[in-house]
Amino acid sequence: MKKILLIEALANSGPYVLDAARALGARVFVATHEDVYESYPGALRDKIHGAVFTDLTDPDRALADLAAFAEATGIDAVAGCWEFFTPLVAHLAERLGLPGNDPRLAQACRNKAVMAQAFYAGQVPAPRTISVRTAGEAARALGRIGIGFPVVVKPAEQGGSWGVSVVESPEQLDAGVQHAQSWPIAAPHGLPMDQRVIVQEYVAGPEFSLDTVVWRDEYFHLPPVEKHTTAGAYRAETGHTCPAALPAAELSALRAATERALRALGIRNGVAHTELKISPDAGPVVIEVGARLPGDHLVDVIRRASGIDEARAYLQAVLDEKPDVPAPREGACAIRFLTPPRAGTFHGVTIDGRHDGLVDGDITTPTGAVVGSAHDNSARIGHLVFTAPTAAQVNADAAHALAHTRIEVS
Ligand SMILES: Nc1ncnc2c1ncn2[C@@H]1O[C@H](COP(=O)(O)OP(=O)(O)OP(=O)(O)O)[C@@H](O)[C@H]1O
Ligand SMILES: [Mg+2]
Repeated sequence: MKKILLIEALANSGPYVLDAARALGARVFVATHEDVYESYPGALRDKIHGAVFTDLTDPDRALADLAAFAEATGIDAVAGCWEFFTPLVAHLAERLGLPGNDPRLAQACRNKAVMAQAFYAGQVPAPRTISVRTAGEAARALGRIGIGFPVVVKPAEQGGSWGVSVVESPEQLDAGVQHAQSWPIAAPHGLPMDQRVIVQEYVAGPEFSLDTVVWRDEYFHLPPVEKHTTAGAYRAETGHTCPAALPAAELSALRAATERALRALGIRNGVAHTELKISPDAGPVVIEVGARLPGDHLVDVIRRASGIDEARAYLQAVLDEKPDVPAPREGACAIRFLTPPRAGTFHGVTIDGRHDGLVDGDITTPTGAVVGSAHDNSARIGHLVFTAPTAAQVNADAAHALAHTRIEVS
């Protein structure tokens, strides 16, 4: 029986990885901190074969502890779920002589300032980006390089759209930079975040994500996903639809830009979640890449739409087996996130009537909880999942159901 070391399972994709490992007949050992392990839901713990504790905020110590554990246990593959730990996954795989990404480039998969440099070096179509510590520095650099407003301001390290804002004028730069520096520590491990801020050109156009399983430098693309976000200053994701209805030429351009980005980041064995916009002037532009499975239940959405199990294919790649990524079957799936109409006390969700295609859903916020406004993904109170034969139908079904959904806040 193969043994996989998974660096932190407490993530949206964690349960999918653990289920896929079981289906492949592999055992999973999870690397985490014992205090974090205490907070694992029972259902997650039940899927794990064993745990090894270390301090994931100390990369040198974690590397030494986990290498010793892996050698003593006879670990066959190293995997991860969290973006912030993807450099550790790459370094550990290299140390153990197992398949993985290039550790020399791995920091670029975690830090958007380093990623922008790697994209520039690899001639990846990406927004021009500067990295700064203050609004004054940003204003001077933008003027020098000739980047006009609007610009997008974001933390060099974060996720979930936390701290990301679209800044329309020089007067708003200060607020944007402060917003980006509001989360210096990432829960649950207490990982310190780079406090640099990146400022980049605003890219217009629709947004997509494309997941790719990479095995021995060969790319296995999953069906593209259309990403729906809020408009205005804060861009939180409101939902995803798989597959995105894209003409063949646009899909192949999206794939080409993605492959260029993965090469620039040294992603050679594992999985990548690439976010792109298709600009009316410039075509596909890469916004970011995570060398990890997607969050937002996209593993489930893609599987319901296409029959392809991305978590299984990822584990096959790190086990050095050819990943199963067959041609997608006909069908579509959409997820929509429920966010409160305004800040206040949450009283529940009412969906009037019956709705075609509504196959799953979860309300994750308890009644009586205080909820914020939808600046980032932390405002979500739950989600609904729909399936239908086509993307157009599933989008229409989701829109219809949402129009009959009331989120009670006072
Ligand atoms: N340069 C840009 N031009 C236009 N929109 C952008 C740009 N950069 C980011 N955005 C918008 O802001 C959203 C969040 O940005 P980004 O993906 O870089 O941050 P994140 O915190 O990693 O987000 P998430 O984890 O939600 O994917 C993007 O999905 C996109 O809608
Ligand atoms: Mg993103």
